[in-house]
Order: sequence, then C-alpha cells, then structure tokens
Amino acid sequence: MGIAGNDWVLMKTARAPSNIAVIKYWGKRDEKLILPINSSISVTLDYLFATTTVAVGPSFTSDRLWLNGKEVSMESERYKNCLQQIRSRATDVTDEKTGLVVKKEDWKDLHVHVASRNNFPTAAGLASSAAGFACLVYALAHLMGAKETYEGEFSAIARLGSGSACRSLYGGFVKWNMGKEDSGRDSIATQIVEKDHWKDLVIIIAVVSSRQKETSSTAGMQTSVKTSPLLHHRAEVVVPKRIEQMEQAILKQDFATFAKLTCADSNQFHATCLDTSPPIFYMNDTSRRLIGLVEKWNAHEGTPQAAYTFDAGPNAVLFAPNNEVAKSLLQRILYLFPPAADADISKYVIGDQSIMEL
Ligand code: DP6
Repeated sequence: MGIAGNDWVLMKTARAPSNIAVIKYWGKRDEKLILPINSSISVTLDYLFATTTVAVGPSFTSDRLWLNGKEVSMESERYKNCLQQIRSRATDVTDEKTGLVVKKEDWKDLHVHVASRNNFPTAAGLASSAAGFACLVYALAHLMGAKETYEGEFSAIARLGSGSACRSLYGGFVKWNMGKEDSGRDSIATQIVEKDHWKDLVIIIAVVSSRQKETSSTAGMQTSVKTSPLLHHRAEVVVPKRIEQMEQAILKQDFATFAKLTCADSNQFHATCLDTSPPIFYMNDTSRRLIGLVEKWNAHEGTPQAAYTFDAGPNAVLFAPNNEVAKSLLQRILYLFPPAADADISKYVIGDQSIMEL
C-alpha cells in the first residue's frame, strides 16, 4: 500500500544535546564537506539541548524551517546537504498509530517542515548549531526510516550541517577524528567514554551574555585559516599531542591533566583568534575575571581545583573534580559576581551539571 489521500501528516520529535570542546576545532581543510584541520574532543552538555519536530505531508509545497518560533530560510547548502543525505537513505516507513505507509520512492517528492527550539541562548558560544544539526539529522533519519550503512555515518551527515554537530550525537566524552579521506567518510565522531565513566566531574555553565556573537565561528575560522600562522602551528604540532594526552586524562579521570589541557587549549584557541587579521575577540571582561579567579585559586592550591573553557563567545564552561570543590567554586563566583537581591539562586544547584547567569 502506498500513500493514500492528501490529508495526512507524519511527524517525529527528537532532542539532542549541545557540547563543549575541551580540545577545540578551529579551521577547515574543506569548506563544503566541513573537514577540519585537526581532531577535537568535547563533553556533551546534557542540560543544553535542541528539541526538533520534523513533519512531512503531501500538502507541503516546499521545505520550511522555524528556529525558536521564527521562520528562517532552508536554502542554505548546509540544510540542503543534510536533508538530501537522509532522503537518499530513506526506506519504507509504516506509521504505527495510523498504519499509513510511505514507500521508499515517495520520500523524494515529499517536503519537510522543521520546527526547532533551543533551551539556551542561540549563537552565544554555547554551540547551538551543534545541538540543532545533530537533532535535525537524528529526527529526519527517524522520520524517514534511514539507517546507517557504516558506524558513524549520521555523525558525518550532521558534520555537513556544522562541524561541531557531529560530536553531539553521542553522550559523555566524544572525539571527532579529523579523518584522512577526501570524501569525509572517516571524519566522524566516536564516544571516548560514557558520562558515567567520570561520575564525580561537575560542569558549571556560567552564562555571561546571551547576546548573539559578532563573528560567527564559520566566518571566524575561515579568516584564521587564511591569516593566522599560530593556527597552523596549533593544528599540526600542538593539537595532535594534546588529543592523545586528553584521551588518557579522561580514561584515567586525571583531573589535574584534564584541567591543564582544557585551560591551555581554550587560551590557545583565543590566542589564535587574536592572531587572526583582523583580530577576533570572543571573550569579554567578565570572561577574563573568571579566568583570573580559576588561575589564582589553582596557583594558590598548587594543583588545579577547577578548569575553564570558552568557545566562540564570552560564556564560560567550568569544571570541578567533585561536588565539594564545585560548591567552593560557586561560592567564589558568587562573591565576585554577587547576585541581585531578588535573584533566584535556588537554581544554582550543584549536580553533575549546573547553569548560572552572571
Ligand atoms: C569554537 O561547528 O560552529 O565551538 O563547522 O563552520 O559550523 P562550522 O563551525 P562550528 O565551530 C565550532 C568552533 C568552536 C570549537 C569546537 O566546538 O570545537
């Protein structure tokens, strides 16, 4: 049985988390296929996520997309590539509730409507595109009954949407292997360890500003590739060693090494931005005060108590080795940035991951 009638809509909803890189991806060797110049490692941020509903129906006359309630064009190559890759892997799908059958050959004539929402500031350096594209690919694959023909294939498709998105299909600690093949087939993410491997680790996200960043990651890294000598040194000499050391630190739950590498890599990424012409500034005074707080505390104790990392924006992601140290970190942050009298500080909960607005 094929498609009957014109009055049906098939829908699927998925949720995908954001991630924060502790060894950063910055720079592409292939702009179209989004192939990076170095491998990277991230931690999946379970509490920052995108929720995406994808729908198809015979009455839809074009592919359309709504982000946080506002319609945006689906004409960008990135959306088109992801959609086309999933469409070409679509299979016969039977809707469990209604018994409706969409045949493999019907998918190419059906348009999709996509509605996606983030529960965190969009484009403020909290990897909204990572969660968004990972979620889109996952939801579309589910809707169209697409199956991976090799392990990591969906990660490679999410990468076509946004590089960092390939890491958001997995939980815990994730490595995006830069790969060697021109096709990008081996430029995929794999899980290093599940979140439960390092149960004591606490992540605090300090939202410094929810304003949209001035230079997008895509444009920023393009300029860095063209103009920054430091970037090439970083990709060729520094990062390959750090990737190995970071993997070992994660496997051994060695917080001191993890913290040193995380802070050093964030600082080198921002140094690369400054080494770009014209220079790019993603951090602000609040970001720098947070760095000062952690650095002074670590120097005073003689061993890392906490670590920080900043993506392409001023917001900080902070790490502590356990709840006790995380509470002390939180106290220090609140001392430096006292909350307004009417602020609801009950939300500054220490668990495995916390979010606070400064
Ligand atoms: C600083 O993945 O947003 O967050 O591939 O052009 O979409 P495109 O860039 P994007 O860049 C992320 C850069 C970063 C570091 C990282 O996530 O590794």
